Amino acid sequence: MRFDLHSDGPLHHDAESVSSFKAPAPISWSLPKQGRALLHGLAGVLFVSTVGVSKPAFAEDSVGAELAWKYHCTTCHGVKGVANSNRYPNIANQNKPYLVVRLRHFRSQSEPGNQMNAQAAPLSDTEIDALAAYFSGEAS
Ligand code: HEC
Repeated sequence: MRFDLHSDGPLHHDAESVSSFKAPAPISWSLPKQGRALLHGLAGVLFVSTVGVSKPAFAEDSVGAELAWKYHCTTCHGVKGVANSNRYPNIANQNKPYLVVRLRHFRSQSEPGNQMNAQAAPLSDTEIDALAAYFSGEAS
């Protein structure tokens, strides 16, 4: 129903001219108009929130993206978390809490010899959060 009403094509205008042909009272004029305005408004909100959800994964300018370059995560894990080589794990769209736990684990150096230990050593909690947000696709 939303799509029918939201149509900007001829259908939309036909519906309007049909109702004007019936010479509706002022109240029945204003209600459909308000309804349409509301639906247009809702469509706008839905559009914006869709962009808001999908953008971060590609937002090269997010804090997490900058950190990924700064700490060279991109060298092994790729710019968006899809690894450059099959020796490295893909971390794109991985669950954010999982990424946080893994990075804290590496930072703790509790697994001697792990290649990630040196990578995670300089990271603050805030940086880990931003990196996890970025690679999970939940970047803010
Ligand atoms: C020199 C290559 C290299 C660099 C640079 C690197 N990583 Fe890794 N990363 C690895 C390897 C190898 C593993 C697998 C280690 C393991 O799971 O024991 C790994 C594992 C991970 C994991 C865990 C994945 C999983 O599925 O458990 C995360 C998260 C991660 N890296 C994030 C990062 C972040 C963030 C950076 C930048 C701060 C980074 N990595 C830099 C090589 C690298």
